Amino acid sequence: MQAIFMGLPGAGKGTQAERIVEEFQIPHISTGDIFRAAMSEGTPLGLKAKEYVDKGQLVPDDVTIGIVSERVSRPDTASGFLLDGFPRTVAQAEALDKVLKEMGKEIDVVIHLNVDRGLLLERLTGRRICRSCGSTYHVVFNPPKVEGQCDKCGGELYQRADDTVETVATRLDVNIKQQEPLLQFYAAKGLLRTVDGDAEINEVFGQISHILRGVQ
Ligand code: AP5
Ligand code: MG
Ligand code: ZN
Repeated sequence: MQAIFMGLPGAGKGTQAERIVEEFQIPHISTGDIFRAAMSEGTPLGLKAKEYVDKGQLVPDDVTIGIVSERVSRPDTASGFLLDGFPRTVAQAEALDKVLKEMGKEIDVVIHLNVDRGLLLERLTGRRICRSCGSTYHVVFNPPKVEGQCDKCGGELYQRADDTVETVATRLDVNIKQQEPLLQFYAAKGLLRTVDGDAEINEVFGQISHILRGVQ
């Protein structure tokens, strides 16, 4: 099963992906996570990505497409994958189709986590992430049992550098502009399924699992 999660920053892509990959046993491929890992390691990719990620701008298509093309070709994707935050432009979507076609595969479903824009700022500024295992929390909506500490591994929780009020505003502008043509691209192929992402985390998970079981 080859699936894609689409949604604006803070829509819940990462939160739902953590749960879905556990249930469906497929790799979670998040371009944001790949860029942040490269940035913290200070690799050439990380230095390049940092110029854009820290400002809330999109990393150029040629860089991003190269990374994902390599990632979806690895052996662990044999029984499928879940893409989170890619594609984000129509050029990326077309490049993905081409790479998958060469491997005799195609996208089965695109799930759009549709969230009222008014909710996104609070979700993003209250987000906390585990430094050790990457699990996502929220100080109000999904708090850890012990403040500042991951429930799963005891790791330290931190705030993403691009989760400031100023950078969030840029990220929302950039993504709102790119999202519409991409939604149309997948709707025209009959692959788009929209989920009410305003709902509570477990309820959203229920809606998504139901859709994925239907395409499996
Ligand atoms: P990326 O890391 O993908 O960031 P993003 O798109 O801005 O999305 P987020 O990760 O912020 O949101 P999310 O939907 O995962 O929300 P989450 O589940 O954490 O990308 C970062 C950057 O990398 C980009 O800005 C760009 O520079 C670059 N990049 C990445 N991909 C690229 C691409 N394809 N092309 C070019 N550049 C690219 O949830 C948010 C918070 O809300 C959490 O605290 C969570 O606990 C809470 N929450 C989640 N669901 C609910 C709910 N239902 N109710 C209440 N709270 C909830
Ligand atoms: Mg995310
Ligand atoms: Zn952890």
